[in-house]
Amino acid sequence: MTEDLTAAASSGTPPTAASATASTPAAPAPRPVVPRPARAGRTETARFAATHTLPAFVRGAFSARPKVVAAYAALGQQGWSAATLRAMRARHGGAPVEVRGLSGRLLVLLDPADLRQFYELPVRTLALDAPDKYKGLSLLEPTGVICSHGDTREERRRINDEVLAASRPVHPSCREFQAVLDEEAPALARDAELDFARLRRTVARIVRRMVLGDAAAGDEELARWLLVLREEANWMRLRKGRAAAAEAVYARAAARVEEYAARAEPHTLTALARSHPAAAGPEAAALDPVGQAHHWLLALESLDQLVARTLLLLAAHPAEQEAARAEVDAGAPELPRLRACVQEALRLYPLVPDLVRVTREETEWRGVRYPAGTAVLVPALFHQRDPEQVPAAHRFVPARWLEAEAAEDIRMAPFSHGGGRCPGEHLGVSTAAGLIAAVLRGHRVTGGRPALDPSLALPGILASAGIRLTLAPR
Ligand code: HEM
Repeated sequence: MTEDLTAAASSGTPPTAASATASTPAAPAPRPVVPRPARAGRTETARFAATHTLPAFVRGAFSARPKVVAAYAALGQQGWSAATLRAMRARHGGAPVEVRGLSGRLLVLLDPADLRQFYELPVRTLALDAPDKYKGLSLLEPTGVICSHGDTREERRRINDEVLAASRPVHPSCREFQAVLDEEAPALARDAELDFARLRRTVARIVRRMVLGDAAAGDEELARWLLVLREEANWMRLRKGRAAAAEAVYARAAARVEEYAARAEPHTLTALARSHPAAAGPEAAALDPVGQAHHWLLALESLDQLVARTLLLLAAHPAEQEAARAEVDAGAPELPRLRACVQEALRLYPLVPDLVRVTREETEWRGVRYPAGTAVLVPALFHQRDPEQVPAAHRFVPARWLEAEAAEDIRMAPFSHGGGRCPGEHLGVSTAAGLIAAVLRGHRVTGGRPALDPSLALPGILASAGIRLTLAPR
């Protein structure tokens, strides 16, 4: 991308040899070129809001509204957003574009050249708790790492890294988690058709057992409380007077989580949080290691969507399914091929399509300074599916994730990069792969709805609630 802002800021014609004579008064020193910010105009701002921001809000950031997602899938909403972002990039020569939103200044990064800086800036400078995200998330996990600042954030991040074994492809509790999958996953292949509702129920039981212990497996009351909170969080505190009721629900849910944690089996995530050194230290109450479980439940439960989409993609790509199944049959310990299928499903259909941060001090982007408090957006889905940057952007090509350094390719960010990268990445991918392996071990996925045609570009949205998979015994 050209840096046309710099060119646009310079003015005047170059001096000719005749004009540059010693007898004429010295020409004034050229003024330094100050790059100007690229600002979206009114029409562009309205288009951005109508095709990107508003649809994301209406869809629901914390609990997707199934009817809205189905309507967007039918209407091709993701295509509207991509067209808007492409047009903004072309108009501003790839420069970060400043858009005025309801909550203030938002800088949209449209060129891969700016992504490295986004991921390299420390979280103390480019913080995860951007105002709109915080408004919703603080109802669900007020003591969670994403909602935290400064030293407290760093301590909580350390607890998350250690309990989730962020740096290890295989979690230390993998054997016990596999036993949970072995007991629960047969429910998935009980009939010739697997629908999303059953997948959702099964995943929820598995997740409660992994996080809170076996006693929590059937706790539908806790599930309802968490759902109420997620639906309220979608409104980002716009519904005045609802915060107190939501806080009361959170208090009940948090007490229930604490009760389970106190008697959870030692391999569960809350038991590991309770036995973390921070839980015995002077800051234990403030750090709230067990309270981190509210995010773990949210993140692990979203694997139902990921598993449904990956199985649907495998149904439409029989050669990929066959290769994954062969790996499962061979008992490959880390299932690299199946993990690659899960990562590719996330590239096409990310669970977090937008990465939003806020600056805590003045920052500079392509020579333009922006004050502290500027929100910065990386539209990750747009970049991951950008045909100008990513080969076969709209196709299912799991092999790209088997390339060396694929996980560090900053064009792709299903888990983000740098200091805010997801600490549950390995646990999430291995749990999803384990669930898919449990289905493929005894069955072929012969078809599914919605029907996908592998010879065409894949749709921008796959509404998970409508997914049905046809299973045939092997
Ligand atoms: C496989 C599915 C998952 C995906 C696609 C995913 C994606 C992400 C992304 C993109 C972020 C960065 C968010 C941001 O910048 O605003 C993130 C953060 C986070 N994720 Fe995940 N995640 C997944 C699974 C998990 C699991 C299973 C856990 C825990 C059990 C988890 C725990 C976290 C935590 C604690 C953070 C906050 C990190 C921080 O503030 O530094 N995630 N995740």
